Amino acid sequence: MQQKKICFIGAGNMSRAIIGGLVKSGYNSALITATNPSAAKLEALAADYGINTSHDNLESASNADVILLSVKPQLMQGVCEALANVIDGKLLITIAAGIPESRYHDYFGKQVKLIRTMPNTPMQLGLGMTGLYAPAGISEDDKVFAEHLMRACGDVVWVADESGIDKVIALAGSSPAYFFLFIEAMIEAGVQMGLPEADARTLAQQAAVGAAAMVKQNPDLTPAELRANVTSKGGTTAEAIATFEAGGLRSLVKDAMGNCIKRAEQMAKSF
Ligand SMILES: NC(=O)c1ccc[n+]([C@@H]2O[C@H](COP(=O)([O-])OP(=O)(O)OC[C@H]3O[C@@H](n4cnc5c(N)ncnc54)[C@H](OP(=O)(O)O)[C@@H]3O)[C@@H](O)[C@H]2O)c1
Repeated sequence: MQQKKICFIGAGNMSRAIIGGLVKSGYNSALITATNPSAAKLEALAADYGINTSHDNLESASNADVILLSVKPQLMQGVCEALANVIDGKLLITIAAGIPESRYHDYFGKQVKLIRTMPNTPMQLGLGMTGLYAPAGISEDDKVFAEHLMRACGDVVWVADESGIDKVIALAGSSPAYFFLFIEAMIEAGVQMGLPEADARTLAQQAAVGAAAMVKQNPDLTPAELRANVTSKGGTTAEAIATFEAGGLRSLVKDAMGNCIKRAEQMAKSF
């Protein structure tokens, strides 16, 4: 990966995940700076990954080639306004949820070079999924850099228009929680059937990990084919699957994802 000076504005969970992935992938930690108002997260990042840290957004951003904006969405406007004089010509990458790309030009008071991304929390394990959106005019070089940055913590997809980011939220940003809910429901059912909770949890979570690995490691098979391979006609799995289908699982999933997208659209209007 190309080596550039990167400044992370905000040293919270997501920055930590990306910095960890970058350093583990061999990125030169001397080129990474993270800023944060409080000291503890910076001290931990410096100790764990050998990066530079600072409380000064302005100085750190002015020394960087690439600025990754990683504060909470409600703080973004103030952070951007304060950086407006030092970002000319630099690549900005935002991971903030809900803020449309066009709003950043308002925040900075000028046209900026910005790539919008939507990562998810498994980034913390190097198993993240990030959607990226680059408006017209962003160079191939900048896109490649942003892609490599996010690939350090997982997989990536590009979306052609910004509405695609909301679909990324429905499929990957929010979806770890859907799987948690499914595992939670299985554990509850197992306990109601008389299993000790710890055993129900081990059974459900290991089945989920195994199933996810089978999907990932069999790219030539669709999930439907994998399911067919473990579903004997008239058998136990067939009975369970028929119950899910009769209960409308597919339309429930579609409704849930549709409502997730509607909420993302509503949130975008509040910035
Ligand atoms: N977590 C997710 O699942 C997820 C997924 C996709 C996208 N995102 C986006 O990622 C961004 C960061 O989320 P997060 O979960 O990493 O939040 P977080 O852990 O709260 O990190 C945000 C950090 O920003 C720091 N900060 C506050 N004001 C600042 C300022 N003026 N200058 C520099 N740093 C400042 C905070 O410091 P203090 O704590 O010391 O105040 C905090 O460490 C958000 O925009 C969120 O929408 C998160």
